[in-house]
Amino acid sequence: MNSEPPEIKERLRIREMTIDDLSEVFHLGEKLFTSEYSPSMYRTWDEYEITTLFNSDNDLCLVAELEDEILGFALGTTVEKQHSAWKYGYLVWLGIRQGIQKSGAGAKLFRELKRRMIEQGVRMMLIDTDADNQAGISFFKKQGFGNVQQHVYMSLNLSKKSKTKKEKPE
Ligand SMILES: CC(C)(COP(=O)(O)OP(=O)(O)OC[C@H]1O[C@@H](n2cnc3c(N)ncnc32)[C@H](O)[C@@H]1OP(=O)(O)O)[C@@H](O)C(=O)NCCC(=O)NCCS
Repeated sequence: MNSEPPEIKERLRIREMTIDDLSEVFHLGEKLFTSEYSPSMYRTWDEYEITTLFNSDNDLCLVAELEDEILGFALGTTVEKQHSAWKYGYLVWLGIRQGIQKSGAGAKLFRELKRRMIEQGVRMMLIDTDADNQAGISFFKKQGFGNVQQHVYMSLNLSKKSKTKKEKPE
């Protein structure tokens, strides 16, 4: 019997991301959040995602480390809406290195992020992901998320050949 998965989970250390981790986390994210991951282009992993969240919400930027190697990360932020007493916690990016997925690392990172958000007064957590991300959706359902809401993204090609009816010459 293979006893590796529970071992990894127990040995993983969850800690706040530091400035020295930025490039490692960025490159791990590049491997996970490719254009196939999000074909809509709505979610794009780039340097600004990580540096912006690191600057604004350092205590909600976490890494999962095993023997000095970063195997996963969770980047979150909080949102306060006007006219609402509620504070929301938005888990923006969660990624686990391929090869150790499904061994409990995501759940461990998520638990620590949730604990920190509760400590900050968050009353509701939010996530979003593509509708075809079955692994992600299954993961979040397992963490207790529900109330799935559909969102439609549309695009309009503005290159020469694509014109709406109104724009066609009479
Ligand atoms: C989603 C993700 C963060 C989950 O992390 P993880 O460490 O693999 O998850 P855990 O081991 O803690 O939890 C396992 C659960 O997650 C779900 N899951 C994870 N990988 C899965 C896969 N390949 N297929 C189906 N379900 C999967 C299942 O519900 C699973 O429960 P099960 O083992 O009882 O079936 C990870 O798969 C990942 O990095 N995916 C790519 C990036 C992504 O989609 N991020 C989420 C949106 S930002």
